[in-house]
Amino acid sequence: MSTQTTAASASRPYDIVVYGATGFTGKLTAEYLVTIDGAEQLKLAIAGRNAHKLQACKQDLLAKNSNAKVETLQADSDDYTSLVNMAAQAKVVITTVGPYLKYGEPLVRACVEAGTHYVDLTGEPEFVEGLEHEFHDQAAEKKIKIINCCGFDSIPHDLGALYTVQQLNELVGPERAGKVPMKVEGFIEAQGSFSGGTWHSAITQFSRLKEYRNKRKEWHKSKTTKPTDRRRSRVMSPKVFWVNAYSAWACPFPSIDPQVVKRTAATCREFGPDFIYGHYVLVKKLPNLIGGVAGAGGVVLLSQFKYSRNKLLAIKDPGQGPSESQRAKSWFKVHFVGEADGLHVWTEVAGGDPGYGETAKMLAESALCLAQDSNLPEVYGVTTPGAGMGTALIERLNHAGITFRTL
Ligand SMILES: NC(=O)c1ccc[n+]([C@@H]2O[C@H](COP(=O)([O-])OP(=O)(O)OC[C@H]3O[C@@H](n4cnc5c(N)ncnc54)[C@H](OP(=O)(O)O)[C@@H]3O)[C@@H](O)[C@H]2O)c1
Repeated sequence: MSTQTTAASASRPYDIVVYGATGFTGKLTAEYLVTIDGAEQLKLAIAGRNAHKLQACKQDLLAKNSNAKVETLQADSDDYTSLVNMAAQAKVVITTVGPYLKYGEPLVRACVEAGTHYVDLTGEPEFVEGLEHEFHDQAAEKKIKIINCCGFDSIPHDLGALYTVQQLNELVGPERAGKVPMKVEGFIEAQGSFSGGTWHSAITQFSRLKEYRNKRKEWHKSKTTKPTDRRRSRVMSPKVFWVNAYSAWACPFPSIDPQVVKRTAATCREFGPDFIYGHYVLVKKLPNLIGGVAGAGGVVLLSQFKYSRNKLLAIKDPGQGPSESQRAKSWFKVHFVGEADGLHVWTEVAGGDPGYGETAKMLAESALCLAQDSNLPEVYGVTTPGAGMGTALIERLNHAGITFRTL
């Protein structure tokens, strides 16, 4: 188990900097941090490119808690020096500045240079794989954690799979724990809406499928070492099937989540020597399933051409997001079924508004975990929430109202 901060970062002016605090999700994240128990002791800064917007945001935050300590820092993704200056003042940088493929890489470079832990909300696979390729070794050498996907993509799924594996290990007993092949399937049920920032990030990733494929080939060719020992982690081949227990169709969900679970499983011994994961969204009616698949396919297709892509991007502007009342009606549940040695467990991760309310909570708790917790796994570099924070983050989220339970 590690202590949370690198020696270099222990005496920095801020525990956490929220970069992108003037945006929709960044502001919700900063609001969460100024209203938690102990907010008055947290040394917090909000950062962004626009000084006026930052001041207005600071006033809004102080209106929520006048005793909170909130400073402002100006930083722009096009100005690398400003990013290093920001990163050097924090133990942990949170960033909600997306699309990450467009703006994200210089900040990660700056955090690695400054020896600062980093968490983000990306769901863009090309961005994450590029970071692993470019920065993993340097970040691991400096003992810092660069942790992507700390929102609904992919915390409930990644930590839910880890939690399920922990229950399986208890079931098979201490002699067999971590030594047997395991299978986990995750089934998502959710209701919610999405913001302009999320829409723009998704379209950006969809528009780059060809470039992503070509880059992957290059990355795979130039990989000189395998990241793990003989452990195998795999994702199930896609198929649609009816699940009696949920009275719904299970449709493979091609998000970044299965890749994140697979990376956690490849890093953590408790997943055993051979781990396989399946990731599905539950849909009650077949016409809805067919309509959903056709709609998603249409968006991916239209994202390939500049004219239709611009039309799609114009549907939602960055900075917009679901209203408070829409968010209050939103919820999620992820059901997990785990199997090892012929034994089964059923678990569940559940919470409120997946996209924003709970995402802001997950992101903020991830940063608090890195800034404050002393029981984190000795896993460094470009890594996943499950591998880099593990049980410490499950405990934090349970305490914060996102429930992990065995049925
Ligand atoms: N995976 C998940 O579960 C999940 C959930 C929610 C959001 N997200 C992701 O989080 C990201 C943010 O979403 P959002 O809806 O909050 O977006 P948003 O409202 O558009 O906010 C974007 C933020 O980035 C800032 N920004 C843009 N360009 C910048 C630059 N060059 N330098 C510095 N700051 C810059 C904006 O600053 P200004 O105010 O100055 O414009 C704003 O603060 C998106 O990539 C989205 O996909 C993921």
